Amino acid sequence: MNIVIIGTQWGDEGKGKIVDILSQKVDYIVRYQGGNNAGHTVVVGDKEYIFHLMPSGILHKHKVCCIGNGVVIDPLVLQNEIEGLKRAGINISGRFKISSLAHVIMPYHRILDQLREAKREHKIGTTGRGIGPCYADKINRCGIRMADLLNPKVFAEKLKDNLKEKNEIFKKVYRHPGFDFKAIYREYINYGNLFASYISNTMLLLNEAACDKKDILFEGAQGTFLDIDFGTYPFVTSSSTTSGGACIGSGVSPVKIDKVIGVAKAYTTRVGEGPFPTEFSLEFGKFMRKKGNEFGSTTGRPRRCGWFDALMVREAVMINGISELVIMKMDVLNGLRKIKICTAYRYKGKLLHEFPQDFEALSKVKPVYEEAPGWPETSNKPRCYKELHPNARVYLNRLREMLKVKVNMVSVGSSREDTIFLDC
Ligand code: IMP
Repeated sequence: MNIVIIGTQWGDEGKGKIVDILSQKVDYIVRYQGGNNAGHTVVVGDKEYIFHLMPSGILHKHKVCCIGNGVVIDPLVLQNEIEGLKRAGINISGRFKISSLAHVIMPYHRILDQLREAKREHKIGTTGRGIGPCYADKINRCGIRMADLLNPKVFAEKLKDNLKEKNEIFKKVYRHPGFDFKAIYREYINYGNLFASYISNTMLLLNEAACDKKDILFEGAQGTFLDIDFGTYPFVTSSSTTSGGACIGSGVSPVKIDKVIGVAKAYTTRVGEGPFPTEFSLEFGKFMRKKGNEFGSTTGRPRRCGWFDALMVREAVMINGISELVIMKMDVLNGLRKIKICTAYRYKGKLLHEFPQDFEALSKVKPVYEEAPGWPETSNKPRCYKELHPNARVYLNRLREMLKVKVNMVSVGSSREDTIFLDC
């Protein structure tokens, strides 16, 4: 079975843990969009691994892990992750593949990302990793791909061409000295040598795997509302984070996708700027951030926190074709007297039941909440649905009714064991 895992909010839903669990049952795991703006945390025993580029399934021996053509790769970050895995005794040789069509993040992408953000009046809150400028070059047809790093002549031509134009812009627009060809050329040709054994035609590999009835897990990064089209534009990332992105970013046809699983936190978080209708008040936000340890795994930035927004997640279910939902961090809600779910927005005296596409409306809507009773803190972690507090079960059932989707897993802690499988 070929499954896509998707974040249904603004990213950081906890997809890494779910990918890690589901990886046990599949043969191939694929990252298909985004770059090292993502941070996927996986806890195994007393060890915590944070991946920015590596598919989270890499911790499972014998599984083949691919970085698809839709990902943008910062080679230094990838090199560090590969070395980290080697140090941890995890052998990736022969089972880690990088698409030769994946675009490469260059030093000028990173700097441009930061300079642009500094100049912006309305900041996006970018992670500053060069993701946007790299995707922009891809669309502008001047990007550099992994295969180019294996071909010194082609790489030199492309790099020269890029620097000719970009250095002018850096100097004139940003008063930046620009970039030296030789230094970048040497560094990146070296990456080509380092990655040569991993770079391959992953599109072919995955299609052959699908034909052989192997199981593939497509690991989404970020979340639905950071999608370049369907997200809260312009406060979004630069890739297709919705399920369609899995096909474009891997070369596997939509007819070969069997199921899309959505991941949602039991509340909502957002890093960076942009509208957030259900955001908590300052004090309660601080309290919940601490309770949920809501700090970005990529930048360490504090995450903004708010109540569960059923309008958002319902839209995510629709766009992605989600048939099963996983609820993460249920335990963070323990000990709250009451819990709210946003069921509609109020705007200019009217009730809205759909997530508005107009930016001004989204920025000004007031959430309409349904309240549910909370449940106490517990020292024992529930291990099955029946062990969840009755009010927690009421909350889950209410989400299921509102979202019209099956909830098949609930996470109550960071480790693999803190996961309840249910069929409600
Ligand atoms: P960029 O993709 O680094 O340019 O960031 C654009 C927006 O997406 C910013 O608001 C980031 O905080 C947000 N963002 C990017 N990647 C992630 C992620 O993995 N989790 C949560 N937010 C993200």
